[in-house]
Amino acid sequence: MIQETEYEKRRTLVANSMKKHSVAIVHSATHKTRSNDTEYPFRQDSNFYYLTGFKEDNACLMIVKNKKMFKTILFVEKKDAIKELWTGKRLGRVDAKQVFNVDKVYEIDLFEDIFAKNKELKQHLYFDFKLNYLRFKALKRISKGISTHINIAKNIEKMRLIKSDAEVKLIKKALLITKKAHHKAMRLEKLGKNEYELQASIENIFKKNGAYSDAYTSIVAGGNSANTLHYISNDKTLVDGDLILIDAGCEYDYYASDITRTIPVSGKFSKAQKELYEMVLDVQVKIIKMIKQGVMRTDLHKKSEELLCKGMIELGILKGNVKKLLKKKAHKKYYPHGIGHWMGLDVHDEAPYLNKKGNEIPLEEGMVLTIEPGIYCDENDKDIPKKYRGIGIRIEDDILVTKGGYENLSIDIVKEIADIENT
Ligand code: GLY
Ligand code: MN
Ligand code: MN
Repeated sequence: MIQETEYEKRRTLVANSMKKHSVAIVHSATHKTRSNDTEYPFRQDSNFYYLTGFKEDNACLMIVKNKKMFKTILFVEKKDAIKELWTGKRLGRVDAKQVFNVDKVYEIDLFEDIFAKNKELKQHLYFDFKLNYLRFKALKRISKGISTHINIAKNIEKMRLIKSDAEVKLIKKALLITKKAHHKAMRLEKLGKNEYELQASIENIFKKNGAYSDAYTSIVAGGNSANTLHYISNDKTLVDGDLILIDAGCEYDYYASDITRTIPVSGKFSKAQKELYEMVLDVQVKIIKMIKQGVMRTDLHKKSEELLCKGMIELGILKGNVKKLLKKKAHKKYYPHGIGHWMGLDVHDEAPYLNKKGNEIPLEEGMVLTIEPGIYCDENDKDIPKKYRGIGIRIEDDILVTKGGYENLSIDIVKEIADIENT
């Protein structure tokens, strides 16, 4: 759990990043319609949650900064017995003031009045443009005299790049649950014959262990389906002799995990599957070992391209010389994605990859990223040996950059062939 003092510290850091005489506004997420009058499960906006820990919709954080001081105001929905009868209890203004160490809490209906009152301070308006464009337009209307409009999301997302101990603890907890789900999937014979049954088993374990949601739609891809990178239909029957690529991770208390394992339906890898799998695993292990402070993520990616290209030549998938093939981008047909991404409150964490000058941000203690090389051999690809057609493999772990190098946070989720076969 993240303590209120940590949220308070984050709000202070955002305030410190703001210009004098400015106001920042960060909105909660809004409900999204699924069909007619049903909605998708509500998920709080990550930036708003990062600054408040507040889980309700129809809320807003305002930071008002004058020359030296700043104050924080939380706007929450009014308590309403009839509404609460249908959709559940709300904290309300009075209780919210008890829980959150902000200077003021008001009901959301007062938002525009309060905003207008602070007019003399608002030379600069910080706003999350992406989240609520209509609100932004309304604010612009009532805030004539504001000289600049600045995207507040950038300030918050930069902070999100470095995880605190409490955040790492939550990611580790998410991974503990995700481990159970993947290990159970490796004992497939008891779980059913279809991709969706396997998906249900994985997500059952998430929920059973207190992770109420997946961090992204699970990918359970048998055989050739693994060659569709974001395959989420998960509606096919599993075929003995095929591999299954499972890219699934739970979200625990708002923090993601993101794990891919590729396992055999029958419990045993074939010779051809082993050859491809060992090659990808070897690359993944080598890239993880390169991780330390100061290293660039794009250098990890380039190295993974080089190693995979080399491996593909050895297996007869590509023909020619590594340098020339890389130059021609021939490997991209079989390895079309990046080596990994930031992870945290979002599975693809909204944190910057480049600094203000447009230069890449090197790895630093406290960052969390995935390492996920893969190889994808389509069943209809006549350019590759027949034995590899229809096989797709990805192996993905979640890595914390530490002072002395790295910590593989998902090291306990087995990935060696012998371990998968024996789990
Ligand atoms: N699960 C999506 C990804 O690996 O990026
Ligand atoms: Mn990933
Ligand atoms: Mn993934």
